[in-house]
Amino acid sequence: MSEREQRIAVLGAGYVGLVTGACFAELGHAVVVRDILPDRIAALRRGEVPIYEPGLEALLGRNAERLTFTTDVGEAIEGADVVYVAVGTPPTYSGDADLSAVWTVIDELPDVERHIVVAMKSTVPVGTGEKVRHRLDARGLAHVGYASNPEFTAEGTAVKDFMEPDRIVIGAFEEADGDLIARLHDGIEAPIVRSDVASAEMIKLAANAALMTRISFINEIANVCEATGADVVKVAEGIGHDRRIGKSFLQAGVGFGGSCFPKDSLALKQLAANSGYHFQVLNAVIEVNELQKRRVIGKLTQLLDTLRDRRIALLGLAFKPGTDDTRESPAFVLAGRLLAEGAQVIAWDPVASSDGLSGVVQVDSVAEALRDADAVVLVTAWPELADVDWAALAPTMRTAVVVDGRNMLDPETMRAAGYRYDAIGRAATNGLD
Ligand code: UDX
Repeated sequence: MSEREQRIAVLGAGYVGLVTGACFAELGHAVVVRDILPDRIAALRRGEVPIYEPGLEALLGRNAERLTFTTDVGEAIEGADVVYVAVGTPPTYSGDADLSAVWTVIDELPDVERHIVVAMKSTVPVGTGEKVRHRLDARGLAHVGYASNPEFTAEGTAVKDFMEPDRIVIGAFEEADGDLIARLHDGIEAPIVRSDVASAEMIKLAANAALMTRISFINEIANVCEATGADVVKVAEGIGHDRRIGKSFLQAGVGFGGSCFPKDSLALKQLAANSGYHFQVLNAVIEVNELQKRRVIGKLTQLLDTLRDRRIALLGLAFKPGTDDTRESPAFVLAGRLLAEGAQVIAWDPVASSDGLSGVVQVDSVAEALRDADAVVLVTAWPELADVDWAALAPTMRTAVVVDGRNMLDPETMRAAGYRYDAIGRAATNGLD
């Protein structure tokens, strides 16, 4: 290894840990990834990747000689310069982040005598670094450094997001520890934001909250567009050109889901509340999203008079395209509501599964999903849905009704193809009145 290459241990072989480990190996570092799940580690040793993430398998394969997988924490830490913590922090019933996995790995750290730096990748409440610091000090590990180095990668583009990030955020108690974390990223072109630990922790939570706020904002604009006769797609285009606003995260739809936004919004809300502050904007963002996921039900009821015994096709189960992840997916909320109203639910997704959604019938093609359906809802913006021959499928439905939950299709073309077409916030173009 050259001087700039380091030894890195990554604790947690989940989505974040694997991407982090693979990308650091790609940058030339020697990486040991450790997980408590023996099956997962065995699979990784065989070259099998337990998650669906474009580019990850190739990256792990290409860097196999710099990557080791183990269940043994001692083996992972041995010789490591930096120990990344990349374990899950799911919400508890109260909405707080459950830090038990973080504390477990911190407590499992062997009593190293040399200087190493613990770097936090897991999304944690502000103040966690300070608590870890105290815990390490209490164990006589004051010489072990600590840094917060949050990740901003999105599923489906995680490898690219890691290698070409908008910024790298590093918050450390000691400047030299932050310098070491910065050096690990040599080879990546990006601004590096150095801060105190608490601010780095807050940057992660605030970035997510800002993105969610944009989505709930545009969804509310969409709802007002419906009430007033405007088209949110045009509105988003019109405001997105304003450089102060920007174009991204202004797609109105059936709400946000996924493994981060819903969890992190609750964690920030709870963090604020625990500190005595009522975070009004964030509360509204969460509530708007809950209502948005259910809005399609109102549209379908209006279009079909009743949902009882209606056959509804849901296109897309993943919380967004490019992933098989269905965590907090709006599709699941929709399916649950439809079943509760007495509808039959047929679902299609190119990669995600309806496991866990009892009562939903999953089919292999869009054509099968639409056959004899009373309505179809586009829930996930899978690009292949734009290429479907909608005109050919309209006659196969019992009633050709579409609710385009991602505003993917052209309203004029769909109406010309024989559909009653509704979308999100497109009163100017839906022709329903
Ligand atoms: C997100 C953040 O983007 C990432 O920085 C963070 O590290 C983890 O959380 P991810 O959950 O993978 O990443 O998905 P993202 O692409 O951000 O989409 C989240 C949800 O918002 C999806 O359900 C998506 O459909 C929805 N969304 C996104 C909208 O409804 N409208 C938009 O304009 C953008």
